[in-house]
Amino acid sequence: MGGRLQDKRAFITGAASGLGRATAIRFAQEGADVFIADLAAQAAERVAGEVRALGRRAIWQAVDTSDERQVDAAMARTVSELGGVDIAVAGAGLSHPNYRLGEPPGSLHLRPVTEITLAEWRKLMSVNLDGVFLTVRAAAREMVKAGRGGRIITIASAAARIATPGMADYTASKAGVWGLTNTVAKELAQYGITANTIGPGLMDTPMAQDYINMVKGSQQPGVLALYGEPNDVANTALFLASAEGKFYTGSIFFPDGGATMH
Ligand SMILES: NC(=O)c1ccc[n+]([C@@H]2O[C@H](COP(=O)([O-])OP(=O)(O)OC[C@H]3O[C@@H](n4cnc5c(N)ncnc54)[C@H](O)[C@@H]3O)[C@@H](O)[C@H]2O)c1
Repeated sequence: MGGRLQDKRAFITGAASGLGRATAIRFAQEGADVFIADLAAQAAERVAGEVRALGRRAIWQAVDTSDERQVDAAMARTVSELGGVDIAVAGAGLSHPNYRLGEPPGSLHLRPVTEITLAEWRKLMSVNLDGVFLTVRAAAREMVKAGRGGRIITIASAAARIATPGMADYTASKAGVWGLTNTVAKELAQYGITANTIGPGLMDTPMAQDYINMVKGSQQPGVLALYGEPNDVANTALFLASAEGKFYTGSIFFPDGGATMH
Protein backbone atom coordinates (compact mmCIF):
# COMPACT_ATOMS: atom_id res chain seq x y z
CA MET A 1 0.00 0.00 0.00
CA GLY A 2 1.28 3.47 -0.89
CA GLY A 3 2.00 6.09 1.72
CA ARG A 4 0.36 9.48 1.93
CA LEU A 5 3.27 11.00 -0.02
CA GLN A 6 4.12 8.00 -2.17
CA ASP A 7 6.95 8.84 -4.63
CA LYS A 8 6.70 12.59 -4.02
CA ARG A 9 9.94 14.57 -4.02
CA ALA A 10 10.48 16.91 -1.08
CA PHE A 11 13.09 19.66 -0.74
CA ILE A 12 13.56 20.52 2.95
CA THR A 13 15.83 23.18 4.41
CA GLY A 14 16.96 22.89 8.01
CA ALA A 15 16.40 19.16 7.64
CA ALA A 16 19.53 18.16 9.59
CA SER A 17 17.90 18.80 12.95
CA GLY A 18 14.77 19.41 14.98
CA LEU A 19 11.57 20.18 13.09
CA GLY A 20 13.14 19.83 9.62
CA ARG A 21 14.63 16.44 10.48
CA ALA A 22 11.32 15.20 11.92
CA THR A 23 9.58 16.36 8.74
CA ALA A 24 12.12 14.63 6.48
CA ILE A 25 11.68 11.35 8.36
CA ARG A 26 7.89 11.63 8.58
CA PHE A 27 7.72 12.34 4.84
CA ALA A 28 9.97 9.36 4.08
CA GLN A 29 7.77 7.12 6.26
CA GLU A 30 4.93 8.13 3.95
CA GLY A 31 6.85 7.29 0.78
CA ALA A 32 8.60 10.53 -0.16
CA ASP A 33 12.17 11.01 -1.40
CA VAL A 34 13.96 13.84 0.34
CA PHE A 35 16.58 16.47 -0.43
CA ILE A 36 18.18 17.56 2.85
CA ALA A 37 19.56 21.09 2.59
CA ASP A 38 21.32 22.32 5.72
CA LEU A 39 24.37 24.23 6.86
CA ALA A 40 25.30 21.37 9.21
CA ALA A 41 26.88 18.84 6.85
CA GLN A 42 27.51 15.95 9.25
CA ALA A 43 24.04 16.09 10.75
CA ALA A 44 22.52 16.35 7.26
CA GLU A 45 24.41 13.23 6.20
CA ARG A 46 23.09 11.38 9.27
CA VAL A 47 19.50 12.30 8.43
CA ALA A 48 20.05 11.14 4.85
CA GLY A 49 21.05 7.77 6.32
CA GLU A 50 17.86 7.69 8.41
CA VAL A 51 15.74 8.41 5.33
CA ARG A 52 17.51 5.73 3.28
CA ALA A 53 16.96 3.23 6.12
CA LEU A 54 13.24 3.78 5.49
CA GLY A 55 13.72 2.68 1.89
CA ARG A 56 13.53 6.12 0.29
CA ARG A 57 16.04 8.13 -1.71
CA ALA A 58 17.86 10.89 0.14
CA ILE A 59 20.35 13.49 -1.02
CA TRP A 60 22.06 15.80 1.44
CA GLN A 61 23.98 18.94 0.66
CA ALA A 62 25.63 21.60 2.81
CA VAL A 63 23.61 24.67 1.87
CA ASP A 64 23.54 28.14 3.38
CA THR A 65 19.98 29.20 2.66
CA SER A 66 20.92 32.89 2.83
CA ASP A 67 23.08 32.38 -0.28
CA GLU A 68 21.14 32.74 -3.53
CA ARG A 69 23.56 30.70 -5.60
CA GLN A 70 23.65 27.80 -3.14
CA VAL A 71 19.87 27.58 -2.85
CA ASP A 72 19.37 27.67 -6.63
CA ALA A 73 22.08 25.04 -7.12
CA ALA A 74 20.51 22.77 -4.50
CA MET A 75 17.10 23.09 -6.13
CA ALA A 76 18.62 22.32 -9.54
CA ARG A 77 20.24 19.21 -8.05
CA THR A 78 16.92 18.11 -6.56
CA VAL A 79 15.34 18.32 -9.99
CA SER A 80 18.16 16.57 -11.81
CA GLU A 81 18.70 13.78 -9.25
CA LEU A 82 15.22 13.23 -7.81
CA GLY A 83 13.41 14.09 -11.05
CA GLY A 84 11.48 17.12 -9.80
CA VAL A 85 10.14 18.82 -6.70
CA ASP A 86 6.59 18.32 -5.46
CA ILE A 87 6.96 19.69 -1.93
CA ALA A 88 9.24 22.36 -0.50
CA VAL A 89 9.60 23.03 3.22
CA ALA A 90 11.53 26.12 4.31
CA GLY A 91 12.56 25.18 7.82
CA ALA A 92 16.08 26.57 8.28
CA GLY A 93 16.15 29.32 10.84
CA LEU A 94 18.02 31.05 13.66
CA SER A 95 16.67 31.87 17.12
CA HIS A 96 19.22 34.68 17.48
CA PRO A 97 21.85 36.09 15.11
CA ASN A 98 24.71 33.88 16.31
CA TYR A 99 22.74 30.65 16.65
CA ARG A 100 24.57 27.53 15.53
CA LEU A 101 23.22 24.00 15.76
CA GLY A 102 24.93 22.34 18.72
CA GLU A 103 25.68 25.55 20.61
CA PRO A 104 26.26 24.99 24.32
CA PRO A 105 23.40 25.40 26.79
CA GLY A 106 23.06 28.81 28.37
CA SER A 107 23.30 30.65 25.06
CA LEU A 108 19.84 32.18 25.29
CA HIS A 109 20.14 35.64 23.76
CA LEU A 110 17.15 37.65 24.84
CA ARG A 111 17.78 41.36 24.42
CA PRO A 112 15.57 44.43 24.13
CA VAL A 113 15.29 46.26 20.84
CA THR A 114 17.52 49.02 22.22
CA GLU A 115 20.42 46.57 22.24
CA ILE A 116 19.99 44.97 18.81
CA THR A 117 22.64 46.18 16.37
CA LEU A 118 21.90 46.61 12.69
CA ALA A 119 24.50 43.95 11.86
CA GLU A 120 22.74 41.44 14.17
CA TRP A 121 19.35 42.34 12.71
CA ARG A 122 20.63 41.77 9.17
CA LYS A 123 22.30 38.48 10.10
CA LEU A 124 19.09 37.07 11.50
CA MET A 125 17.01 38.36 8.58
CA SER A 126 19.49 36.91 6.07
CA VAL A 127 18.54 33.40 7.20
CA ASN A 128 15.03 33.72 8.63
CA LEU A 129 13.65 35.91 5.86
CA ASP A 130 16.04 36.03 2.88
CA GLY A 131 16.62 32.28 3.19
CA VAL A 132 12.90 31.53 3.19
CA PHE A 133 12.34 33.89 0.26
CA LEU A 134 15.14 32.22 -1.75
CA THR A 135 13.81 28.73 -0.95
CA VAL A 136 10.23 29.63 -1.80
CA ARG A 137 11.29 31.38 -5.00
CA ALA A 138 13.44 28.48 -6.18
CA ALA A 139 10.64 26.00 -5.46
CA ALA A 140 7.98 28.17 -7.11
CA ARG A 141 10.07 28.59 -10.25
CA GLU A 142 10.52 24.83 -10.59
CA MET A 143 6.91 24.01 -9.78
CA VAL A 144 5.52 26.55 -12.24
CA LYS A 145 7.90 25.32 -14.94
CA ALA A 146 6.99 21.67 -14.37
CA GLY A 147 3.25 22.45 -14.45
CA ARG A 148 2.28 19.72 -11.95
CA GLY A 149 1.25 21.97 -9.07
CA GLY A 150 3.03 21.65 -5.75
CA ARG A 151 3.06 22.35 -2.03
CA ILE A 152 5.12 25.05 -0.37
CA ILE A 153 5.32 25.05 3.42
CA THR A 154 7.18 27.63 5.47
CA ILE A 155 8.06 27.38 9.14
CA ALA A 156 7.41 30.65 10.92
CA SER A 157 6.62 30.62 14.64
CA ALA A 158 3.86 31.35 17.09
CA ALA A 159 6.01 34.46 17.58
CA ALA A 160 4.59 35.69 14.26
CA ARG A 161 1.34 36.29 16.14
CA ILE A 162 2.31 37.11 19.71
CA ALA A 163 4.78 39.72 20.87
CA THR A 164 7.87 37.99 22.23
CA PRO A 165 9.90 40.40 24.38
CA GLY A 166 13.64 40.06 23.89
CA MET A 167 13.13 38.71 20.37
CA ALA A 168 12.00 41.67 18.27
CA ASP A 169 14.21 40.61 15.35
CA TYR A 170 13.05 36.98 15.46
CA THR A 171 9.41 38.01 15.81
CA ALA A 172 9.66 40.41 12.87
CA SER A 173 11.32 37.77 10.70
CA LYS A 174 8.60 35.24 11.43
CA ALA A 175 5.79 37.71 10.77
CA GLY A 176 7.59 38.38 7.48
CA VAL A 177 7.60 34.68 6.62
CA TRP A 178 3.85 34.58 7.20
CA GLY A 179 3.25 37.62 4.97
CA LEU A 180 5.53 36.29 2.24
CA THR A 181 3.81 32.90 2.23
CA ASN A 182 0.35 34.43 2.13
CA THR A 183 1.20 36.54 -0.89
CA VAL A 184 2.91 33.69 -2.67
CA ALA A 185 -0.21 31.57 -2.10
CA LYS A 186 -2.31 34.15 -3.91
CA GLU A 187 0.15 34.38 -6.81
CA LEU A 188 0.56 30.64 -7.26
CA ALA A 189 -3.03 29.43 -6.87
CA GLN A 190 -3.47 29.66 -10.64
CA TYR A 191 -0.75 26.99 -11.04
CA GLY A 192 -2.28 24.58 -8.54
CA ILE A 193 0.50 25.33 -6.06
CA THR A 194 -0.46 25.79 -2.41
CA ALA A 195 1.57 27.78 0.10
CA ASN A 196 0.95 27.60 3.83
CA THR A 197 2.76 28.60 7.00
CA ILE A 198 3.27 26.62 10.19
CA GLY A 199 3.69 28.68 13.35
CA PRO A 200 4.94 26.25 16.00
CA GLY A 201 4.82 27.03 19.68
CA LEU A 202 7.72 25.91 21.85
CA MET A 203 9.03 22.57 20.53
CA ASP A 204 11.55 20.14 21.97
CA THR A 205 14.46 20.68 19.55
CA PRO A 206 18.12 21.63 20.02
CA MET A 207 17.26 25.27 19.28
CA ALA A 208 14.71 25.48 22.06
CA GLN A 209 16.55 23.78 24.95
CA ASP A 210 17.31 27.00 26.81
CA TYR A 211 13.70 28.16 26.49
CA ILE A 212 12.45 24.80 27.68
CA ASN A 213 14.73 25.01 30.71
CA MET A 214 13.37 28.49 31.36
CA VAL A 215 9.68 27.46 31.35
CA LYS A 216 10.06 23.99 32.92
CA GLY A 217 8.07 23.73 36.12
CA SER A 218 6.18 26.96 35.49
CA GLN A 219 2.39 27.14 35.50
CA GLN A 220 0.68 28.18 32.29
CA PRO A 221 -3.05 27.60 32.59
CA GLY A 222 -5.07 26.89 29.45
CA VAL A 223 -2.42 25.07 27.44
CA LEU A 224 -2.12 21.38 26.61
CA ALA A 225 1.57 21.34 27.54
CA LEU A 226 4.44 23.79 27.92
CA TYR A 227 6.11 22.47 24.79
CA GLY A 228 5.49 20.04 21.97
CA GLU A 229 7.37 17.38 20.05
CA PRO A 230 8.96 17.81 16.60
CA ASN A 231 6.42 15.36 15.18
CA ASP A 232 3.59 17.75 16.09
CA VAL A 233 5.04 20.05 13.42
CA ALA A 234 6.06 17.24 11.04
CA ASN A 235 2.49 15.91 11.08
CA THR A 236 1.13 19.37 10.28
CA ALA A 237 3.52 19.58 7.32
CA LEU A 238 2.50 16.07 6.27
CA PHE A 239 -1.16 17.05 6.23
CA LEU A 240 -0.41 20.15 4.12
CA ALA A 241 1.75 18.14 1.71
CA SER A 242 -0.70 15.24 1.36
CA ALA A 243 -3.87 14.83 -0.69
CA GLU A 244 -5.92 15.70 2.41
CA GLY A 245 -4.41 19.20 2.42
CA LYS A 246 -5.15 20.05 -1.20
CA PHE A 247 -7.73 22.76 -0.52
CA TYR A 248 -5.68 24.72 2.01
CA THR A 249 -3.63 27.68 0.86
CA GLY A 250 -2.62 31.00 2.37
CA SER A 251 -3.32 29.62 5.83
CA ILE A 252 -1.26 29.54 8.99
CA PHE A 253 -1.39 26.59 11.36
CA PHE A 254 -0.35 26.87 15.00
CA PRO A 255 0.72 23.55 16.52
CA ASP A 256 1.28 25.21 19.91
CA GLY A 257 -0.89 23.40 22.46
CA GLY A 258 -3.05 26.51 22.73
CA ALA A 259 -0.24 28.93 23.62
CA THR A 260 -1.42 31.59 21.16
CA MET A 261 -5.13 31.08 21.81
CA HIS A 262 -7.08 34.24 22.56
N1 LIG B 1 11.93 24.75 18.35
C1 LIG B 1 11.01 25.68 18.55
O1 LIG B 1 10.52 25.87 19.67
C2 LIG B 1 10.51 26.50 17.39
C3 LIG B 1 9.33 27.21 17.56
C4 LIG B 1 8.85 27.97 16.52
C5 LIG B 1 9.53 28.02 15.33
N2 LIG B 1 10.68 27.33 15.17
C6 LIG B 1 11.37 27.42 13.89
O2 LIG B 1 11.48 26.13 13.35
C7 LIG B 1 12.60 26.08 12.48
C8 LIG B 1 13.45 24.88 12.83
O3 LIG B 1 14.01 25.09 14.12
P1 LIG B 1 14.37 23.89 15.12
O4 LIG B 1 13.71 24.17 16.39
O5 LIG B 1 14.14 22.60 14.43
O6 LIG B 1 15.92 24.17 15.35
P2 LIG B 1 17.23 23.31 15.02
O7 LIG B 1 18.37 24.15 15.43
O8 LIG B 1 17.08 21.96 15.60
O9 LIG B 1 17.19 23.21 13.43
C9 LIG B 1 17.45 24.31 12.63
C10 LIG B 1 18.28 23.84 11.44
O10 LIG B 1 18.49 24.95 10.56
C11 LIG B 1 19.82 24.87 10.10
N3 LIG B 1 20.30 26.17 9.64
C12 LIG B 1 20.54 27.28 10.37
N4 LIG B 1 20.99 28.26 9.57
C13 LIG B 1 21.02 27.77 8.31
C14 LIG B 1 21.40 28.30 7.06
N5 LIG B 1 21.84 29.58 6.92
N6 LIG B 1 21.31 27.51 5.96
C15 LIG B 1 20.87 26.23 6.09
N7 LIG B 1 20.52 25.67 7.25
C16 LIG B 1 20.60 26.44 8.35
C17 LIG B 1 20.62 24.38 11.30
O11 LIG B 1 21.87 23.83 10.92
C18 LIG B 1 19.66 23.34 11.87
O12 LIG B 1 19.90 22.07 11.32
C19 LIG B 1 13.30 27.42 12.60
O13 LIG B 1 12.93 28.25 11.53
C20 LIG B 1 12.77 27.95 13.91
O14 LIG B 1 12.81 29.36 13.95
C21 LIG B 1 11.20 26.56 16.18
